[in-house]
Amino acid sequence: MADLAAVQEAALAALREASTVGELDEARVRFTGKRSELVAAQGEMRDLSPDERKAQGQAINAFKRAFEEAYETRRDALAAAELEDRLRGERLDLSLPPRRVPPGRPHLLTQVLDEIVDVFVGLGYRVAEGPEVESATYNFDLMNIPPDHPARQEMDTIYADVEGPSDVVLRTHTSPVQARVMTTTAPPIAVVVPGRVFRADAVDATHSPVFHQVEGLLVDEGVTMADLRGTLLTFARAMFGPERQIRLRPSMFPFTEPSAEVDVSCGFCSGQGEACRVCSGTGWIEILGSGMVDPAVLSACGIDPDRYSGFAFGVGAERVAMLRHGVTDIREFFEGDVRFLARF
Ligand code: PHE
Repeated sequence: MADLAAVQEAALAALREASTVGELDEARVRFTGKRSELVAAQGEMRDLSPDERKAQGQAINAFKRAFEEAYETRRDALAAAELEDRLRGERLDLSLPPRRVPPGRPHLLTQVLDEIVDVFVGLGYRVAEGPEVESATYNFDLMNIPPDHPARQEMDTIYADVEGPSDVVLRTHTSPVQARVMTTTAPPIAVVVPGRVFRADAVDATHSPVFHQVEGLLVDEGVTMADLRGTLLTFARAMFGPERQIRLRPSMFPFTEPSAEVDVSCGFCSGQGEACRVCSGTGWIEILGSGMVDPAVLSACGIDPDRYSGFAFGVGAERVAMLRHGVTDIREFFEGDVRFLARF
């Protein structure tokens, strides 16, 4: 008679040690399958005496029950562990931070144009715009620059490629928008005009065939040069700092009389004549052209010069941006190098 107690112990040990459902089933076949000692013991039952048979029958049943129970317990545990393993393997970490997309921002020039415009909007000016492709009438004639005027050549005008003598130009300044506003609006007029302008200049550190200006125009009764000066001082201090001074130097523009070039005091040196990269030791930096609107321009635009007067100015946006942010080469604005763009 087989020693069932020893077999049972070995069987339960095999179940405990099985580490996969596969191994568990192998143990099941080994200890309860056709060739198992258990089945052999069942076969030997008929050779036993009735008493022995009864005892052996109880032992066999106890074995089966114990085995079955241990098998199920172990199988549930292994199945749970395998499921757990699989789920762990399939796990997605949704908390991973997304790949960083660097935020964009307006171009330095756009920022400076906006700031310049904001200063004047704060003073009650409205924003006006005009076309970049302009007629010579607005760009020149209405601005008191007749066809034979030297300023037409000095402006390095880019003409549109049309048959015959062209009347179509890329505007060389934002001043034609003065005429567009004055011919369509009755005074009082207070506008700023940000925009792109074009000149047939060779590219170098301070010249670009495309650049930006902000034009200003104020027309009303009794406007004087003192108003121009006060307005431009306010502008210079808003852009460059409350300590700055301005000075007006006599100049010449066909559409203003008198005309003044405006300098802002240098904020980068003492102004006492030492070597300075920004003002070359003069203590002053030129920032814009300005003047009182020429009565001939008012008349040409349908405004009575005996009743109204006005002032106008034109600021170079690249120049302001370069002075404010220490940019030394105008080409930086147009090359689109991300290392430059990301600095501002
Ligand atoms: N249009 C002039 C220029 O481009 C600037 C200017 C504007 C001067 C308005 C006086 C008045 O140089």
